[in-house]
Amino acid sequence: MILPIYAFGSPVLRKKCEEITENYPNLKELIANMYETMYDSNGIGLAAPQIGVAIRLFILDGSPIEDIKPTKFKQTIINPTILNEWGEPWRYEEGCLSIPTIRENVMRKPELTIRYYDEDFKVHEENFDGMAARIIQHEFDHIEGKLFTDHISPLKRNLLKAKLANISAGRVNHDYKMRFPVKK
Ligand code: NI
Repeated sequence: MILPIYAFGSPVLRKKCEEITENYPNLKELIANMYETMYDSNGIGLAAPQIGVAIRLFILDGSPIEDIKPTKFKQTIINPTILNEWGEPWRYEEGCLSIPTIRENVMRKPELTIRYYDEDFKVHEENFDGMAARIIQHEFDHIEGKLFTDHISPLKRNLLKAKLANISAGRVNHDYKMRFPVKK
């Protein structure tokens, strides 16, 4: 089932999300719905708060990106901890399904070590770099209640203020299902 993606300004996007256990109700179904929703919106990552659920879960599929390593970078990430991040920060223009039409340069470290549980609650500890690391960092931010716009300079954010207010009110082009916090 395709779920609506919560837009910028929705309180759930600002919550520090909660860890879950294997017994979380209908977890498999929730994950399947998240993949369906992400593919429908042509996203490469989607975090649970973006569909209105404040839990520490996100999904990734970097296969539309050329040159991404690992090449089959599709993963469900539950209760993650970023154990280490290192390297010289690099710039990349990020976007977010909750903030359509806006893209901004964000600096992030190129390498990280993450510990997480997969959908079968098997624990993994892995290193990622480059775009794979960046997608993880972006999605990890979501479950901490952070958005990529928090990383840009106050001056730039100020310039985006009206545009962000329009997004919250639903005055924005989007070709996938969304839910807006401000009633028209
Ligand atoms: Ni995002």
